[in-house]
Amino acid sequence: MHRIHGSWFSAGVCAAFFLQIVFAGWAQSNTPGVIQVEDYNIGGEGVAYHDSDAGNNGGAYRADDVDIEPCASGGFNIGWVSDDEWLKYTILATNSAWNRVRYRLASGWTGHPFAIRFSLDDRTVDVLNIYQTGDWQAWTNVMGAMPFFVAAGVHTVRLDIITGGFNIDAFELTMYTNATPAYLNPAAPVADRVEDLLGRMTLDEKIGQMCLPSFPNLFNAGNQEKDITDYFIGALLNGGGDAPPAGNEPRKWANMTDRYMSYALQARLRIPLLFGTDAVHGHNNVYGATIFPHNIGLGAAHDEALIERAAQVTAVEVAATGIRWVYAPCIAVPRNEQWGRFYEGFAETPDRVGQYGAAAVRGFQGGDLSAATSVLACAKHFAGDGGTAWGTGTYNGSIDQGNTVCDEATFRAIHIAPYTNAIAAGVDSIMASYSSWNGVKMHANTYLLTDVLKGELGFQGFVVSDWAGIDQIPGVYTEDVITSVNAGLDMIMIPDRYKELLLILKAAVNSGSISTNRVDDAVRRILRVKFKLGLFERPYSDRSLLSRVGSAEHRAVARQAVRESVVVLQNQNDILPLRKDLARIHVAGKNANNIGNQCGGWSIAWQGASGDITVGTTLLEAITQTVSSATSVTFSEDGFGAAGADVGIVVVGETPYAEWYGDTLNPTLDMDDILTIDSVRASGVPVVVVLVSGRPLMISDLLPSWDAAVAAWLPGTEGQGVADVLFGDVYPAGRLAHTWPLGTNQLPITVGDEPYDPLFAFDYAYRIEPVLSAMQTASQILFAWPYGSTGFTVQSSASLASPIVWTNVPVSPEIVGKTYNATIGIPAGTSVYYRLKRP
Ligand code: BGC
Ligand code: BGC
Repeated sequence: MHRIHGSWFSAGVCAAFFLQIVFAGWAQSNTPGVIQVEDYNIGGEGVAYHDSDAGNNGGAYRADDVDIEPCASGGFNIGWVSDDEWLKYTILATNSAWNRVRYRLASGWTGHPFAIRFSLDDRTVDVLNIYQTGDWQAWTNVMGAMPFFVAAGVHTVRLDIITGGFNIDAFELTMYTNATPAYLNPAAPVADRVEDLLGRMTLDEKIGQMCLPSFPNLFNAGNQEKDITDYFIGALLNGGGDAPPAGNEPRKWANMTDRYMSYALQARLRIPLLFGTDAVHGHNNVYGATIFPHNIGLGAAHDEALIERAAQVTAVEVAATGIRWVYAPCIAVPRNEQWGRFYEGFAETPDRVGQYGAAAVRGFQGGDLSAATSVLACAKHFAGDGGTAWGTGTYNGSIDQGNTVCDEATFRAIHIAPYTNAIAAGVDSIMASYSSWNGVKMHANTYLLTDVLKGELGFQGFVVSDWAGIDQIPGVYTEDVITSVNAGLDMIMIPDRYKELLLILKAAVNSGSISTNRVDDAVRRILRVKFKLGLFERPYSDRSLLSRVGSAEHRAVARQAVRESVVVLQNQNDILPLRKDLARIHVAGKNANNIGNQCGGWSIAWQGASGDITVGTTLLEAITQTVSSATSVTFSEDGFGAAGADVGIVVVGETPYAEWYGDTLNPTLDMDDILTIDSVRASGVPVVVVLVSGRPLMISDLLPSWDAAVAAWLPGTEGQGVADVLFGDVYPAGRLAHTWPLGTNQLPITVGDEPYDPLFAFDYAYRIEPVLSAMQTASQILFAWPYGSTGFTVQSSASLASPIVWTNVPVSPEIVGKTYNATIGIPAGTSVYYRLKRP
């Protein structure tokens, strides 16, 4: 075999001496340093390469499935490359050095850009976007952006085709000997790196950092992906429901975010891009990700450690897709059930919200923001989003994005307080709220954004606008930009008119309407976070995390979260927990077998959607998996056919919505739900109603006719957690984090109000208690307690004297799941008092 590539890299030859291909069983000769792509390892499909069609389309050089053709400039090249194909090489580096990779490419196709990923020993070190060259044999040499260290020794190189449509002839590792600027030194303190980098930046480079478009706007008319490089764009996001054009699987997300990163790294100063996503209950935009209960459910679980763990799991799934920034937690303090975002908040009191929000921040950001599994959290929406009044909303005069009217002390105590917890937990970004406080848009509020948040509360991170949030400031767009940046916004979620924004920003700085100091402050805050995230050192996605997205281990955490969030509201005649060996159970209702309804808004689509939107377990499936093999489970959505069953489980409530689409004057069950419940009742079967909803629904007139009522909130993909509670595998420990109103006439109602006479008070849950079943002997008693896996305590005391000294008595299960045995030692001539304590 013979290849001559005299023309390529003649200038680079001196840098290439140290690299040789190892003879991985494939006899070859090679120009040192240059690796001919057709000399991939031996081992065949799945081992040395992956090719999507059988046979060698080019017919040359090797007789396997890789498509090799003669190259016009001599030797051979690989063609017909398509998405997801890959090739592996074993190489020997003869000395240790920093390198960059250079590729020799051609493309005769117009559907650009195409992309390739280069990994060294399973770590992505380079991603390159490729453009047409005019012909399949019109070769061009392109240098990758990122220098990476290659230690002397044997390494595995893998080329992954992200987007096919080009030909490749060779690649070369070229030594990178440029002096490294101080800001690229990972050992230097972050503050020094920030100042060094800032000192090198032009105004265009600075304002680019303040600019946050949504990625689909990069391919709107007049825009292109390369704008990231050309306009120095610092950050990108996906809006709710946006997914990679190549498909909504986790790997396609990683491919996409890596590609966008590579555009940023091509710019002069190689400042990495920050990509953000609304991972508000798991990595909820991504097909197959673990979806957790919305915050309203997590709030009812009252378990900080669980919230932290849920955020950790979410962070891993987000990081796997190359994203290091989540627009979560929402630390709104929702006060009114009419609000369409009610479910995004944890609880109605600022102390609970603060506590749980801080736990989520710790979970997302981890102990070290630079860890591969840590993501930047964004507490939102600062501030007052949960306090707006019905009638002041932006859309249809309802409530979302409306006006919160109260004095400053009240505003601080309710709506700002949770931010002090989030800041103490280290949150490094905060999103401004669309809403107004006493008529002033938060995006324009200098006092709260700058004086209070950054000054008084000492927030060191950056403040980002909400989606087109600055557009709502009264007046023309130019003034919106100037007002909001001067008010303290550091980054603008535009999300589309970024070119216009950059022009306005530049003109405003040049004319003095925005000071250079203000811009420097904004950019400093953003760069500081990028350095802390380790993005300069590790810009690309960590593919080893991909297998954890939607994994059994992660789903188990979500199932636990569901179990803990379920609140039993009513339980007449001790119908709960249900026995697993009933002869027949009839399941009914529109939310019984619907993953989409169970997930709610912000699930795959922005508004969420009914139906099989992603992978998970519906409540019907969970019930079927839980009951004994002798139990028959029947199902009808409308409740017909229940007659003869031992119990009817009716799963009703809301269908998905997000933001103002969920604003409603009267949140209650719809007529279909009521008819479904009625038809089960009419067949004479006891009814357990499971409410799947993003808020307490107005049910006080309906409740008396139900045997049991359970609030499951918006549980997400792991419906099994609800069945675990219904059938007694776990004790229902959830309790209300919101007051449950009697009716809409009480709205808004919050614990502490006078008068306070709701249907169920804040912190309420129907409590299932252990019951004394028999006194065996004077010192041995038996208790009935239907939760096999969750124990309880018996305490005894020899006297009722004050203060009573209670001593724990060990209980041992006599008949597992039903009866416990406690033996209490009774001293002669005394009485013994005991009490039962549920978990
Ligand atoms: C060209 C190849 C190219 C392929 C792409 C063929 O016609 O000869 O070089 O890879 O088209 O489909
Ligand atoms: C919402 C934010 C969200 C943003 C980005 C806005 O409509 O108010 O909570 O983070 O969109 O999707």
